[in-house]
Amino acid sequence: MRIVVTGATGFIGQSLVGRLAAEGHQVHILIRKPRAGLPPQIPYSIWDAQQNDPPAAALEGAEAVIHLAGEPIAQRWNEAVKRSIRTSRVGGTQRLISALSQLGTYPRVFIAGSAIGYYGSRGDEILTETSALGQGFLAEICEEWESAANLGLALNMRVVRLRTGMVLGKEDGALARMLPAFRAGAGGRIGSGEQWMSWIHLHDMVSMIIAALTNEKFTGAVNAVAPGPVRNLEFTHALAGELRRPAIFPAPMFLLRLLFGEMAEAVLEASQRVMPVVAEKSGFDFRYTELGPALRDLLRS
Ligand SMILES: NC(=O)c1ccc[n+]([C@@H]2O[C@H](COP(=O)([O-])OP(=O)(O)OC[C@H]3O[C@@H](n4cnc5c(N)ncnc54)[C@H](OP(=O)(O)O)[C@@H]3O)[C@@H](O)[C@H]2O)c1
Repeated sequence: MRIVVTGATGFIGQSLVGRLAAEGHQVHILIRKPRAGLPPQIPYSIWDAQQNDPPAAALEGAEAVIHLAGEPIAQRWNEAVKRSIRTSRVGGTQRLISALSQLGTYPRVFIAGSAIGYYGSRGDEILTETSALGQGFLAEICEEWESAANLGLALNMRVVRLRTGMVLGKEDGALARMLPAFRAGAGGRIGSGEQWMSWIHLHDMVSMIIAALTNEKFTGAVNAVAPGPVRNLEFTHALAGELRRPAIFPAPMFLLRLLFGEMAEAVLEASQRVMPVVAEKSGFDFRYTELGPALRDLLRS
């Protein structure tokens, strides 16, 4: 299949592009600037989602588009960062769909990034794809981002909106950022530790995107999370246990708010107990349903 991928240089994108190429797909990536370390066999075109329209030649003949590009969420937010988060995702998706609408033939499927931030912070409530939109900046962004992706429905594309949880990988993402403190025995629960964390192993994240290319049961909102969410305290004990280190230093919320501002509340303190109902109904086979084996695979391999 000829597939265009944005955000291909990111944490998920790099792994995805590697797997797609290994499976024999014809991949074309859209990146903001050329850089060292790009996979040499993968053709690329330049596109900055915040600045301009993607080049039509890169999209011509695409059977699928996987759109993951966006300003990172996990950073201290100020007005400029918030603007960048919004324009890169919402404006970028609108530009991409608009460029696709100029083509003679449209791709069959448009797979768009989104996040479980859509649901806001919801305590112990079990959240599925039909749960209502939550509150806060991230929920607002996700709603606008998903509405932009839905513009693709007018082109008769199957639109898949991946409400992604915390992706666990070794090289990057939340786990990689937590590891130095936990390895040093200085890890601990975040705030009360009661908040639910919905995670997915990077392997399953990539497999789910690949499954969504051809499995037509993947349509609309899809929670990209494992079926075994855990409370932060359980996550903390599991991670420390795998590393055989103590985890006795809680990270107090006031300190995290001081360091990371509003982002700390929206991401670190938020409680999201999300279930992958659509993926399970679509017959998706998770390799990692429980946190322990997922962490063991990542930390011991
Ligand atoms: N990782 C997670 O745990 C997680 C959780 C929930 C949702 N998601 C969503 O899933 C998608 C992929 O996640 P990821 O972790 O792979 O993201 P990532 O590592 O931050 O990579 C995102 C890519 O987007 C592009 N990008 C960054 N800033 C940009 C900007 N200001 N304007 C336009 N493009 C920009 C970059 O590609 P170029 O520099 O090559 O253009 C980058 O490689 C993202 O949209 C993310 O929000 C991820």
